[in-house]
Amino acid sequence: MNTQVKNELLRRLFEANGIPISGQEFADEFGLSRTAIWKYIKEFEEEGYDILSIRKKGYVLTGSPDRINAANIQKKLKTKSYGRIVDYYESCATTQLIAHDAAQNGAADGTLVVSEEQTAGKGRLSRPWSSAAGKGIWMSLIIRPSLMPQEAPQMTLVAAVAIVRAIEEIVGLEATIKWPNDIMIDGKKITGILTELQSDPDRVKAIIIGIGMNINHDIDDFPEEIQDIATSLKLKTGKVTDRARLIAEILSFLELYTEMYVKHGFGPIKLLWEGYSNTAGKRIKAVMLNETVEGIALGISEEGLLEVKMDDGTIKGIYSADIII
Ligand code: BTN
Repeated sequence: MNTQVKNELLRRLFEANGIPISGQEFADEFGLSRTAIWKYIKEFEEEGYDILSIRKKGYVLTGSPDRINAANIQKKLKTKSYGRIVDYYESCATTQLIAHDAAQNGAADGTLVVSEEQTAGKGRLSRPWSSAAGKGIWMSLIIRPSLMPQEAPQMTLVAAVAIVRAIEEIVGLEATIKWPNDIMIDGKKITGILTELQSDPDRVKAIIIGIGMNINHDIDDFPEEIQDIATSLKLKTGKVTDRARLIAEILSFLELYTEMYVKHGFGPIKLLWEGYSNTAGKRIKAVMLNETVEGIALGISEEGLLEVKMDDGTIKGIYSADIII
C-alpha cells in the first residue's frame, strides 16, 4: 500500500464532510484500479473507521477512531508549514530516527513524523522512553529555521513553552517546566523533549524536535519502574484528551514561538520560559556526567544555560544535567 495515496484518500474522506467521494474518480486521478481503492477502504475499516459505501456515488466517512494520523491532525491545523506534511505510523522503532533520515533526504520545514507506538523510543542520554500504543503523543518535528548551530539547543526551551501553552489551552491544566527538557504536573513528568541537530559548521540544516507526551495513560500503562515519577493528562483530569487536537495546538504555538525566536532572539522566549519554570529560585542539585553541584537556580542565560548561584557566591552556567529539586 502506498502511504501517500492512503493519507490523501483519508484526508479527502474527512474533508468531504458527508459528501460521497467517488472511488472511480479517485482511482483515475492516481492511476489506480477501483479494486485498489476498495482495498484502501477495507484497510481503513480494519483500523476502526466507519465508511458507508453508496452505490453509484462513492464512499462516505461516518466515524473515525482516535488516531493521530494526517487527516485527524490537519482537520484542526492552523499553521503555515508545521504539520502540513505528516508521516504517520501505527508502530515504529523511534520517530526520531525516521525524522533524521527524512531530513537528510530533504524533507520540508515542518514535516512531522508521528507514531501510535514506539518499540525503541529514546530519551535524553539514550535512555529508553516508554511509548505505549495509542496512549500518548510520540512525534518528531523537522524544522529548518535560519539559526546558527549554537542557537539550536534553545529550541528545547522554545518547544517547552509551546507545549505548556497548548496544554493550558486544550486541557486547562497548568504544567511547569523543569530545565532543560521536562514538562511536569504536580511534581511528576508528563512530557520529555529531545532536540537533535543536523548542521554545517556555521549553519543549521535541520533540527529534529522529538516530543513524547503521556496523554491517555492509566497507571498500569506505564512500566512499573516509572509509575511513581510519571503521570498523564488522563490521570490528572479523569478524561480522555483528543491527541490530534493537542498536536495541532502544539504545532501552532511552536511555529509562532520559533518565528519569534528567529526574528527577535531569545529574550522574549526567556521571559515566557521563566514564567513557567519550576526551577528558578529553588535550591537544586545538578547531576552532570563528571560532577554534581548544588546551589540556588537563578534562571536561564541568553544561551539557554541554567545559572546556579553556588554557596560561595559564584555563578555557574550549566549546559546539561539531571536536576534534583
Ligand atoms: C527525555 O525526556 O529524555 C526526552 C524524551 C523524548 C521522547 C520522544 S518520543 C518521540 C521521539 N522519538 C523518540 O524516540 N524520542 C522522542
